[in-house]
Amino acid sequence: MGKPRKNRKKEHYYREAKKHGYRARSAYKLKQMIRKYRLLVGVDKVVELCSSPGGWTQVLHEMDESLEIVAIDLVPMSPIEGVKFVQGDITSEDTIDEVVRIVGGSADLVLSDCSPKVSGHWELDVARQLELAQCTLKLGCRILGPNGKVVTKVFQGPGFQEFLQSVRERFSSVRLVKPDASRRTSAEIYLLAIGPKERTD
Ligand SMILES: C[S@@+](CC[C@H](N)C(=O)[O-])C[C@H]1O[C@@H](n2cnc3c(N)ncnc32)[C@H](O)[C@@H]1O
Repeated sequence: MGKPRKNRKKEHYYREAKKHGYRARSAYKLKQMIRKYRLLVGVDKVVELCSSPGGWTQVLHEMDESLEIVAIDLVPMSPIEGVKFVQGDITSEDTIDEVVRIVGGSADLVLSDCSPKVSGHWELDVARQLELAQCTLKLGCRILGPNGKVVTKVFQGPGFQEFLQSVRERFSSVRLVKPDASRRTSAEIYLLAIGPKERTD
């Protein structure tokens, strides 16, 4: 009997990542979103939350070597040329203040592929993931200009619709994005929000 389709896809991107030297197969999710939504057009400065082990950061650096990238994660990340890395918790104000200071108070794109450590309790994991997505959007409203963009992972579960509604109130354009490299059956989806309506501290 053949492998289930979802595993075949996962293995396909896993093999591709190994072959091309990416640290995580999730690199392909960002590649696909960058190409489809022209995410790097007009972008000089990027803040990448929850970046380790660095697959997304590799893609950013490879697609535009001139990008100024600040990456943050709870756990260490092996260096990538030209990338500033902050080890810290994105739910902590001190960490966010440090990031804001490093980028000089502004950026063009905020990315977040955050996943909490899974507890095995679906509702708790969804709530923790939503908290990380909220922190991402909050940072976006603090440092992005009127054409700035945020891409954040979200789990579709309890609280998701309310979260989506709150983002729609704060950003001019909001869309949900499911890159091909993300398994159809997975609850994860990415939210692309463009143009914060108001800059907040
Ligand atoms: C799916 S991985 C990111 C993979 C990354 N996009 C890549 O391509 O290599 C999720 C990351 O979220 C980080 N994370 C989870 N909670 C965090 C928090 N509160 N603050 C900072 N990083 C966090 C984890 O340490 C983990 O490295």
